[in-house]
Amino acid sequence: MTGLALGIETSCDETACAVVKDGKYILANVISSQVDLHQQYGGVVPEIASRKHIETILPVIDTALNQANVTLQDIDVITVTKGPGLVGGLLVGLAAAKALAFAINKPLVGVNHIEGHIYANFLANPELEPPFVCLTVSGGHTDLLHIPEFGHYEILGRTRDDAAGEAFDKIGRVLGLPYPGGPQIDKLAKQGNKNAIKFPRGLAEPGNYDFSFSGLKTAALNFLNQMKQRNEEINLEDFAASFQWAIVDVLSTKLLEAAKEKQVKCVIVSGGVAANSGLRTHLQERVKELGLTVLFPPSILCTDNAAMIASAGYFRYLRGERSAWDLNAFPALKLEDKQ
Ligand code: KG4
Ligand code: ZN
Repeated sequence: MTGLALGIETSCDETACAVVKDGKYILANVISSQVDLHQQYGGVVPEIASRKHIETILPVIDTALNQANVTLQDIDVITVTKGPGLVGGLLVGLAAAKALAFAINKPLVGVNHIEGHIYANFLANPELEPPFVCLTVSGGHTDLLHIPEFGHYEILGRTRDDAAGEAFDKIGRVLGLPYPGGPQIDKLAKQGNKNAIKFPRGLAEPGNYDFSFSGLKTAALNFLNQMKQRNEEINLEDFAASFQWAIVDVLSTKLLEAAKEKQVKCVIVSGGVAANSGLRTHLQERVKELGLTVLFPPSILCTDNAAMIASAGYFRYLRGERSAWDLNAFPALKLEDKQ
């Protein structure tokens, strides 16, 4: 055994392949982003995404193997995102992964994309051991989890409407910012006053670990419309800072409350929104007061990548898990689903 896992990720608009050793050490992490292609439409166009994945997947795999300085024959297991995500993109990744695994006669392991995001934290901190409370926040999901041991996920709460990243992206689009709006709002917010505009916090009652961002989105849209009707100029930086703070405040409050209830000393954050500088700074300050530790992966491992898939898949492989050749794509897969 070489301990090498090859990971493939094609669930949204990144075509990615990685080679990871022992589930923890990244030898190659290649990400070909389609973001420029989708920017003109203000969001990901699924059909265009699938076609681009088809064009890009093989060169991305070759590049990853070259960068890792290994051959396909050195790989112990092929891991691939099976869901959630856009079905067309998932099918491209699955077809490539099955072909590789069949060709080299090695096992195939399908991976839940959300579990992948959690494992990004193990790549960044190889000594990390449960128990912890984990917030997974991206464009597609907002989940608050208690993880008492490896592979065991207790869902404490999740969003009832938009994901946090989705709320960032939708308001970014209304402001005319390039897709995805999250990083753009983050940049503007650094120059603004987060208390300039009072936005509502959804489901703020203590003990409720679900999230809702639709009220915030409506309030933000109303604010922008009113300013337009009154012909008043919008201070974009203040707007961005206040909008971001409404999201960061809710995410942090619920995460830290859950940590207290579950009596864990460590909280981890993952997914694209974990790259948000406001969230990182605020949580780092708050945990100091509370005597806790907070961990975030580096930004490149927060957003979609295949190293996190290789890591999550490798530990499943070590536990004896194998996927069959008829492994399908599951666009609406949840963390607790058994598929
Ligand atoms: O994890 P990810 O790459 O894809 C999904 O699985 O959805 O997350 C992408 C999301 C987008 O909504 C993007 O706007 C958001 O993560 N995002 C950010 C930042 N960087 C990425 N949101 C806020 N601040 C950021 N710095
Ligand atoms: Zn993701």
